Amino acid sequence: MNIQTYNRLKDQPAIITGAATGIGKAIAIQYALEGAKVVINYLKGDPADEVVDKIKEGGGDAIAIEADVSQEEDVKKLFAKTIEAYGTVHILVNNAGIQKDSGFIHMTLKDWQKVIDVNLTGQFLCAREAAKEFLRRGIDENVSNSAGKIIFMSSVHETIPWAGHANYASSKGGISQLMRTVAQELAPQKIRANSLAPGAVKTPINKKVWDNPDSRKTLLKLIPDNRIGEPLDIARAAVWLASDESDYITGHSLYVDGGMTLFPGFATGG
Ligand code: BGC
Repeated sequence: MNIQTYNRLKDQPAIITGAATGIGKAIAIQYALEGAKVVINYLKGDPADEVVDKIKEGGGDAIAIEADVSQEEDVKKLFAKTIEAYGTVHILVNNAGIQKDSGFIHMTLKDWQKVIDVNLTGQFLCAREAAKEFLRRGIDENVSNSAGKIIFMSSVHETIPWAGHANYASSKGGISQLMRTVAQELAPQKIRANSLAPGAVKTPINKKVWDNPDSRKTLLKLIPDNRIGEPLDIARAAVWLASDESDYITGHSLYVDGGMTLFPGFATGG
C-alpha cells in the first residue's frame, strides 16, 4: 500500500479500538492516509501486526497495543502506553464490539453481560480516559480546533429493535445516550463526541449472513441502496467526523447504512 497523506488528521495520535479487523482496520488505514499516528488496539491473537506493517510499508505511523476494553486496568494501560509513545491522544474511535446472539428467553446472563461489558462499558471506559487526556492537554491550535474528538461506534440497532439480539441492541441503544451525554457535558471544553451508526457492512461479525446467497438476498431487501456496505464506507465517515471539517458537529449519530433506517418495508405499503 502506498500511503498518500491528505493531512486532515495530521500529527494527531488516534486510538482505534478493535482495529485488527473489519471496520476498525479500515479506519486505521484511512487515518494513516490522513497523517494520523495510529494506535491499533487489539485482543490477544488478533492479526494487529498485519495492519501495522501495512501502514508502515506505505510510510504511515502506527503501533499495536493489546488491551481488553472491558477491563479498566487494561484501558488505563492502553492510554498510558499511547501517551508514552506519541505524547498525547487527540482522537478516540470506540470501535471494539461483539455479538453473542440468541433468542430472548434463551439468552444467558453471561452472554448478556459480556456484550454489555465490551460494547457499552468498554466505550465508557475508553471515552473517560480519552476525555481526561483531552482536558489535561487542552486545545493545540496547530493540530485541531478541538481539544479532542470521540467517535462512538453505534449501529442502526441503536434505533431498530433486533429480535434475537437483545444484548447487542441494548448496548447500542445505551451508546446513543452515553454519546449524547458526553457531548453535552464536554462541549464547553471543546471536546466533540459523535457516533457512527453502520448498517450491514461486510466484516467478520456478520460474515455468515453476507457470505451465504440466501441470507444475502434477504438482507438486501432491508437496504434501499441494494448493496451491503464496505468497511471503507464507514472509514471515510470516521475521517470526516474526526477532522475539523465537522468542527461544529457534536452529539450526533451519523447513520451510514444505505438507507436501512428508512423503513424499507413502507416503500410499497403502509
Ligand atoms: C451488526 C451486523 C448487522 C447490521 C445490520 C450491525 O450493527 O453488527 O451484524 O448486519 O447491524 O443489521
